[in-house]
Amino acid sequence: VGADLGSAVRLRGYEAGDLQPIFELDEICFEPPFRFSLRAMRRFAEAQNALTVIAESDAGEGGEIVGFCLAHLEPSGRQQVAYVVTLDVAPEHRRRGLAARMIRRIEEQARDAGCVAIGLHVWVGNETAIRFYEREGYERTRLARGFYGAGLDAFVYSKLIAPEGGMG
Ligand SMILES: CC(C)(COP(=O)(O)OP(=O)(O)OC[C@H]1O[C@@H](n2cnc3c(N)ncnc32)[C@H](O)[C@@H]1OP(=O)(O)O)[C@@H](O)C(=O)NCCC(=O)NCCS
Repeated sequence: VGADLGSAVRLRGYEAGDLQPIFELDEICFEPPFRFSLRAMRRFAEAQNALTVIAESDAGEGGEIVGFCLAHLEPSGRQQVAYVVTLDVAPEHRRRGLAARMIRRIEEQARDAGCVAIGLHVWVGNETAIRFYEREGYERTRLARGFYGAGLDAFVYSKLIAPEGGMG
């Protein structure tokens, strides 16, 4: 039970007008080397192959964006996979299962789009995110040295997602 008892957070897709608020939320969630520029954020959110989830709280007037997840579809050999670009939850909304709801929604979208797997990079020092992804069933596959710049390594994580219709 959260502090803002009575308010609900709903998930929806990306809409025009979301760019500035998600950019600002990303600045709160990540330190400089890990942040995206407004331009990069626009490119990711508005790409034709983007999968997006926006978490909007009904507290206050007009709804407030309290989390988001951006992913995209990409070919991998003859198959299609999804790649998680970023996952952000506003600090005051953490530890209430919101990131879990969003990543599961992204996985559903990826499955519906025919993906067999979903992958991501996470900075090796981001213990919170590592714990989160491992709990969600992601497995560490390798180390990507210098992925975030000199001396800033990333772990690559991935998860197999069952094709539509289940495993038979
Ligand atoms: C990582 C992040 C997205 C998690 O969001 P969240 O909404 O708090 O996550 P959830 O509430 O869905 O957490 C689900 C589980 O993940 C694990 N987890 C999440 N945050 C944790 C923390 N700070 N410490 C330990 N475990 C944690 C727990 O197992 C948690 O379940 P529990 O609360 O029942 O113990 C959020 O902390 C965040 O935005 N961080 C900054 C940005 C970032 O690092 N993004 C991910 C990298 S792309």
